[in-house]
Amino acid sequence: MPLTLDDQAGIIEFAREAAIGLVVIGPEQPLVEGLADALRAAGIAVFGPSAAAARLEGSKGFTKALCDRAGVPTAGYESFTDAARAKLALPRFGLPVVIKADGLAAGKGVVIATTADEAGQAIDEMIGGRFGAAGASLVIEQFLEGEEVSFFALSDGKTVVPFGSAQDHKRVGDGDIGPNTGGMGAYSPARVLTPALEARVMAEIVRPSVAAMAKAGTPFSGVLFAGLMLTETGPQLIEYNVRFGDPECQVLMLRLAEDLLPLLHAAATGTLEDRPAAWTDAAALTVVMAAQGYPETPRTGGTIDGIAAAEATGAHVFHAGTRNEATGLVAAGGRVLAVTAAAPDVAQAQAAAYRAIDAIDFPTGFCRRDIGWREVARG
Ligand SMILES: Nc1ncnc2c1ncn2[C@@H]1O[C@H](COP(=O)(O)OP(=O)(O)O)[C@@H](O)[C@H]1O
Ligand SMILES: [Mg+2]
Repeated sequence: MPLTLDDQAGIIEFAREAAIGLVVIGPEQPLVEGLADALRAAGIAVFGPSAAAARLEGSKGFTKALCDRAGVPTAGYESFTDAARAKLALPRFGLPVVIKADGLAAGKGVVIATTADEAGQAIDEMIGGRFGAAGASLVIEQFLEGEEVSFFALSDGKTVVPFGSAQDHKRVGDGDIGPNTGGMGAYSPARVLTPALEARVMAEIVRPSVAAMAKAGTPFSGVLFAGLMLTETGPQLIEYNVRFGDPECQVLMLRLAEDLLPLLHAAATGTLEDRPAAWTDAAALTVVMAAQGYPETPRTGGTIDGIAAAEATGAHVFHAGTRNEATGLVAAGGRVLAVTAAAPDVAQAQAAAYRAIDAIDFPTGFCRRDIGWREVARG
């Protein structure tokens, strides 16, 4: 019987019966619900934070308060549970202003309002229950200007090591237009995050955060995914995720030049060595093939052919939402495939990924044709 992510007892029983030596938890919801705690209590090694440490993703207000305590640079903010008070505070933030549901909202809980009306409406909707309990509390933030980058670090609770950078494309359409998605493509490394800036991110953001979590008695183990804004005054934290993101993970994996498993096991068991991971010099780029209608109403069930031909070009095709049926492979989700290639530079990685895409026959699918454009334009 398939296991569901909220069936903690079932997952523990399965892990015991199958003598599983390490569980890696991918999505945020079971982490926030304490799946890692349950597995650890059962004596099973697990890569991923406790529920208490997963609050770094599960509550925007929690992370903002931690930034205050630890002196981590982040946008000025206030937290509210009352719509009238929140609206009264708006003039203090100017425009545009950022309104965020406190809890998990599947990437839909942030509004960047350009008028006071829009901001007021977002506040009413969130506190009015649009995101359920996740919006009962909200955070109003100053709008930060700059380029966004994703930065990763592995932690075993005490030791924390950098684990690469990436940039993704959230909008569904070419030219970064249309609705937001879970991510239509990504590349790594993000060269805008220079070694000097990366050192600042570790010293000013990641290390103080991990130290503050340990000091609070809720050490963070797992992967810390920092969403950063590179502002004129330096890197600022936008948010933390407590897992490898999709499609960021795919590009990191193609560049990693050592075995992933011992690293995850060391992070899970408090034995992480204080040394950077080994990376190739290559750039990696991934293009997501989604089902038509994504992100609103993806059309599932469409046939997919040509995966072998795509991989014969040297690319790696990660399956995200596919299912094997008697007739062959079909689409079973919104984001269906992540077609990923590595090459000496990002322009060549882009060309290689699209060569592989063109070998895939997925008539009810689509992809962006411009993943990596900003990085390619930089030359
Ligand atoms: N203070 C801010 N200033 C400018 N843009 C922001 C700010 N906070 C968030 N954003 C934008 O909104 C996006 C979503 O916000 P984020 O905090 O990452 O929420 P989530 O990923 O949980 O939806 C970010 O990727 C960024 O583009
Ligand atoms: Mg985000």
